Amino acid sequence: AAVQDLAGRHVVISAGGTREPLDPVRFLGNRSSGKQGYALARTAVARGARVTLLSANAALPDPAGVDVVHVGTAVELREAVIRAATGADVVVMAAAVADFRPETYATGKIKKKDGHEPEPIFLVRNPDILAEISADRSRPGQVVVGFAAETDDVLANGRKKLARKGCDLLVVNEVGERKTFGSEENEAVLLGADGSETPVPYGPKEVLSDTIWDVVARLVSAGDTL
Ligand code: PMT
Repeated sequence: AAVQDLAGRHVVISAGGTREPLDPVRFLGNRSSGKQGYALARTAVARGARVTLLSANAALPDPAGVDVVHVGTAVELREAVIRAATGADVVVMAAAVADFRPETYATGKIKKKDGHEPEPIFLVRNPDILAEISADRSRPGQVVVGFAAETDDVLANGRKKLARKGCDLLVVNEVGERKTFGSEENEAVLLGADGSETPVPYGPKEVLSDTIWDVVARLVSAGDTL
């Protein structure tokens, strides 16, 4: 059995990708399958944590022993994160959250009009859940972990994002056409707000998850003295 270094801890994990509806049949979405977030949930349970998994559109079975809340949009995910994070020891934002959503929702299916150019789609900004949770720790010593999906200048962009979001740890993974999103494996560097850098080579998403929990378990016990 795994070490029980998360026993007695309440861990909140977001997984999957938000979908921002345009009309009753269409949405703006992304390629997240939820596999990374679900692997985090399974490995946290194995280490003794009480786990709340906030799942955005992942077509995966609910993991055993996990309290699963299903959400659709970024705004719904924000509400679920804020509710679940109250009093939680750890919050991990593994979900791919849409930065923007369509300004308007058409209650009827958008139709193409013969002889007309398509209508433009206007976008408005979504709330930044990770920045909000990081700024507003609901419990002293709460550990907040973010992910960063980057396509270039991965580490430099990761450092900037860590500072901007204000979390304790940022898991930076490089994404590509068939890389990371949807696959069984991942490769990442864990950037700590304390300046630490932990590379995790290409391998199963469970292995990356366990390395994240190694770092988080240390941060949580350090926070016990706060
Ligand atoms: O689900 P899989 O197929 O297994 O793929 C895993 C993954 C690639 C989705 C995952 O490993 C990952 O990188 N998740 C974060 C994707 C993402 O949205 O990255 P970002 O760089 O756009 O966002 C940075 C961080 O801010 C993330 O923790 C994100 O959850 C959070 N965020 C982003 C926008 C927003 N409006 N609110 C947020 O909280």
